[in-house]
Amino acid sequence: MFTNRSIVFKFGLLFSVSLLLGGAFYSVMLKVYENQLRSEARTMADSVNAFSAWVGSFGGVLTRNSEDSFLSKADYFTAGSANPVTLYAKNPALSVREFSESVGRSDSPAKFRMVAENPMNPANAADEFERDAINRIRSGGIPEFGVLDGDEYRYARVITHKRGCITCHGDPKDAPESVIARYGNTNGFGFREGDVSGIMSVTLPAKSLLTIAGEMFGPIQIALILGTLVFALFYLRREVVEPVTWITGIADRMSKGEEIELDMDELEASRSGNEMLRLTAAISRLQGSLADATAHYRARATRSAD
Ligand code: HEC
Repeated sequence: MFTNRSIVFKFGLLFSVSLLLGGAFYSVMLKVYENQLRSEARTMADSVNAFSAWVGSFGGVLTRNSEDSFLSKADYFTAGSANPVTLYAKNPALSVREFSESVGRSDSPAKFRMVAENPMNPANAADEFERDAINRIRSGGIPEFGVLDGDEYRYARVITHKRGCITCHGDPKDAPESVIARYGNTNGFGFREGDVSGIMSVTLPAKSLLTIAGEMFGPIQIALILGTLVFALFYLRREVVEPVTWITGIADRMSKGEEIELDMDELEASRSGNEMLRLTAAISRLQGSLADATAHYRARATRSAD
């Protein structure tokens, strides 16, 4: 297909294919970057799950001074004191939310939330990405979903309801008084064992595809690539295309029997490291031999005519 195309055209094509290969390499790098982000997000989700399991291993935790966020409370009397201390009970979900809020206020660039579509606590409502992730996880039966979205990497890991969860998230009639009293009886119920209850959602700062591309290919890099192309084309034209065109012209004139004076030091050229000069020298010698042969045959022709 390309046999009859010029050397410059083929070279330009080769250059473009090399650039495309560079692009392919870039997309491989991007995959590596995404895998790295996903493993960071997984680590964060693992830590939060471990914290939740820690709270769950005690059946919840008791804290002081937590008037705004608790499941149930009780007065606790220390020996010898007439004044009670009020203790507030927190279950794993509530503790995870407070942990998440605390991380949210901190300098940590990575954030997380435990969210659902129809949450018991409106503060745990899923945003657009999270609702989409819950749908994909539920319909695809997949355990996790992650996506590089602008300058963020967003990750979601499934949370499944186990039998023990259904006490509070099943039929509101079976739910503890404390839960109904604080959260009402409409949201966060109606689940069965094995249902997707929500997701652990992790957000990491990331660089978008365009940002990375912009950083990799700034004006300097583009100028360097174009500069290389222009330089290579110039070199190709001067060292290959022009000499070949010149030699072609000479061979053409020789084929028509023209006398040609080659203005070059033949011996010097035949020893040159430059392949084009050596070819020129060979053509020049060929011309010499042809001239000798022609003279020889002419002489014989004249002799036999005599
Ligand atoms: C003692 C009752 C109780 C049990 C048992 C319980 N939860 Fe919850 N769950 C709650 C409460 C209360 C909240 C809201 C906490 C808050 O204020 O953020 C909640 C919140 C959640 C949320 C966040 C979305 C929402 O509805 O606000 C998820 C997800 C969740 N629970 C899953 C589970 C899973 C999975 C289990 C079992 C491993 C479980 N829960 C067991 C009471 C319970």
